[in-house]
Amino acid sequence: VHKIPVGVLGASGYAGRELCGLVAAHPRLSLAFATANERRGERVRVGGAGGADVTFVATDDARLDEAELVFSALPHGASAVWVDRARAAGARVVDLSADLRPGNQPAASADAHGGTAVATQAPYGLTELTRDQLPGAEMVANPGCYATAILIAIAPLVSRGLALPGATINVTAASGVTGAGFTPRHDLLFAEVAEDFRAYGAGNVHRHLAEMRATIATLGGDQDLIFTPHLLPVARGILATITVPVAELPDDALAPWREHYAGEPFVEVVDAQPTLREVVRRNVVRLTAVPVAGVRQPTLLVTAAIDNLVKGAAGQALQNANVVLGLDEPMGLPA
Ligand SMILES: NC(=O)c1ccc[n+]([C@@H]2O[C@H](COP(=O)([O-])OP(=O)(O)OC[C@H]3O[C@@H](n4cnc5c(N)ncnc54)[C@H](OP(=O)(O)O)[C@@H]3O)[C@@H](O)[C@H]2O)c1
Repeated sequence: VHKIPVGVLGASGYAGRELCGLVAAHPRLSLAFATANERRGERVRVGGAGGADVTFVATDDARLDEAELVFSALPHGASAVWVDRARAAGARVVDLSADLRPGNQPAASADAHGGTAVATQAPYGLTELTRDQLPGAEMVANPGCYATAILIAIAPLVSRGLALPGATINVTAASGVTGAGFTPRHDLLFAEVAEDFRAYGAGNVHRHLAEMRATIATLGGDQDLIFTPHLLPVARGILATITVPVAELPDDALAPWREHYAGEPFVEVVDAQPTLREVVRRNVVRLTAVPVAGVRQPTLLVTAAIDNLVKGAAGQALQNANVVLGLDEPMGLPA
């Protein structure tokens, strides 16, 4: 079988390593290169069963022209310029950073070299909601991890006009420590995070708000969003707890999701509260909804769980790449 060569930029990071493991086990893709500057020349094992040994090359040494598609798992700000280089070398790009995402373009073009005007056309790769825009796309903006869980959870209510116009959607979410990346930080030391729990980005300032607000508008909503992330002392996983004021409660609280995501292999609408253990190392959003008791304004509480490195990053990036390249969407993805 002909394998399609793909490259991974930022392969020593958490998202990049996850991607290398998924590509190594993919039946139709092969890894053309995997870049890391500090760890260039190092040979590492990626993936579990079906994984492979990969040797990192410096970013400047990557043969961009040998890849049909490049995944950029570089930090935001550093990614846009490499997206441009990969495209100039003839590759399609799935960018895991925030640089191409809706609501983020002005910052991205300032960080790059003023040449990212075309970048504004990158479709947003929230696959279940935007797959029509992806086949043959030259670039895809892969969503943020929190944004993936939250937007998949609220999209049926917003796009079907069930969410109350002008209301505030309130999100409390907690992420495992890999969400902060591989760069060492004192506040992420084991002894600082273990057996403790705290909010961060308090006051509605997290980076993912821009893409979430832009997507709510694209779905036809005008709701405000209050988003408070928390740091959970586990390696992987995000649990988002979301209240959405609605005009009236549906007879069956889960009906909007069951209808919206019927036949979707990577969205699990369930009766019980989803847990991280149920989603870790899987490319799924697992969610439920219940009516909120004891409040005057009819309100639904939606809970969604994902693995931040799989459905929240590398898995969804591969899902998007499959669609871009005309492969079966679920190919090579842990369901
Ligand atoms: N972690 C998550 O849960 C998650 C989820 C969704 C999206 N993302 C996004 O995915 C991207 C990667 O995240 P991550 O958490 O995997 O980050 P990370 O662990 O910090 O890894 C970043 C990678 O980029 C390389 N790098 C850093 N600065 C660079 C530069 N200026 N030029 C070239 N290479 C550089 C790093 O290696 P060297 O420094 O050695 O080159 C490393 O391989 C980010 O944009 C992030 O927003 C992450």
